[in-house]
Amino acid sequence: MYNSRIIGLGKYVPDHVVTNHDLSKIMDTNDAWIQERTGIKERRWIEKGSEDTSAVMGAKAARIAIERAGLTKDDIDFIVFATLSPDYYFPGCGVQIQDMLEMPTIGALDVRNQCSGFIYAISVADQFIKTGMYKNVLVIGAEYHSGGLDKTTRGRSVSVIFGDGAGAAVLTRTEDNAKGVLSSHLHSEGKHAEELVVDGPNIKRWVPEILEANDPDDISYYPYMNGQFVFKHAVSRFSEAIIEGLQANNLQKEAIDMLIPHQANLRISQFVQKKFGLREDQVFNNIQKYGNTTAASVIIALTEAWEEGKIKDGDLVVLAAFGSGFTWGSVVIKW
Ligand code: UT7
Repeated sequence: MYNSRIIGLGKYVPDHVVTNHDLSKIMDTNDAWIQERTGIKERRWIEKGSEDTSAVMGAKAARIAIERAGLTKDDIDFIVFATLSPDYYFPGCGVQIQDMLEMPTIGALDVRNQCSGFIYAISVADQFIKTGMYKNVLVIGAEYHSGGLDKTTRGRSVSVIFGDGAGAAVLTRTEDNAKGVLSSHLHSEGKHAEELVVDGPNIKRWVPEILEANDPDDISYYPYMNGQFVFKHAVSRFSEAIIEGLQANNLQKEAIDMLIPHQANLRISQFVQKKFGLREDQVFNNIQKYGNTTAASVIIALTEAWEEGKIKDGDLVVLAAFGSGFTWGSVVIKW
């Protein structure tokens, strides 16, 4: 049986830095609140007039990942694109990548699993490679949040958290089963869908109805999050997913060399770090610079950790995420 391993990583974030202080000029918030509650110091937001979108940023990250993999766009057999902020309501961003990178007419699949999007996407790519169907799969996570946030005091509990950016990985076939993606575990609990949601427009309340209502107080276009409820579930689900991944591989927590958690909140990462008895340098965090980039967060963090030389050949790397859906999961990789 084949296995899959990551041979190329890339990331792209917009140049435009928005600090907590910048936000305090447009809404009633402050640097101390944001840093104490989330750890975030700044985030990147696409500037008005920029060409960047989720697909465009994804394409930029993908070009880097493909080049670092030592491949060309013609070597890629399949695209998996994770985002909650696609350029179009439909079609998904995957097909835009096929076009933007001038690839042959390969298949392209969009994954809609929000903060767990990249975990789900890597698992999909891994299965296609393990079965022998594809050799090289391009996996992208990208988000353009800033275009859809309520940047007034009304939306502050959500809008200060989210940032824009993209990351990409190239997975390839290997016959060395001791290396690469050892396992992935995926979960969902849909009864909590409305605890972290963008409700409108949707198929129950289609666009003409919203336009007709013309209600200036309609905030259903903006993300809603029941913050404390989500936080409580996140800390327990993160831990469960990591334990499940370790147990499936007969590994103890001491085997972890690097944990890359979804960057939802620095407090969540620190809780998980303590729970697993990991040192600070064994848990990679960059939420301080980028905020929460949902489906892009794990792949941006993984790419940065690798770029900084923090992931070495033979390391046990654990990816874990939790978010809207609820969805959560983990991926265990022998680098
Ligand atoms: O990525 C997907 C998964 N997401 C998560 O896992 C996120 C989980 N949740 C969280 O990280 C936290 O719940 C938040 C960071 C979102 C919020 O922190 P919190 O400690 O739960 O704050 P809170 O929502 O309970 O709000 C506390 C107070 C409220 O004021 P009162 O009612 O105590 O007077 C809010 O109105 O803070 C106020 N507040 C703000 N103040 C300044 C809310 N947002 C802000 C803000 N600036 N941006």
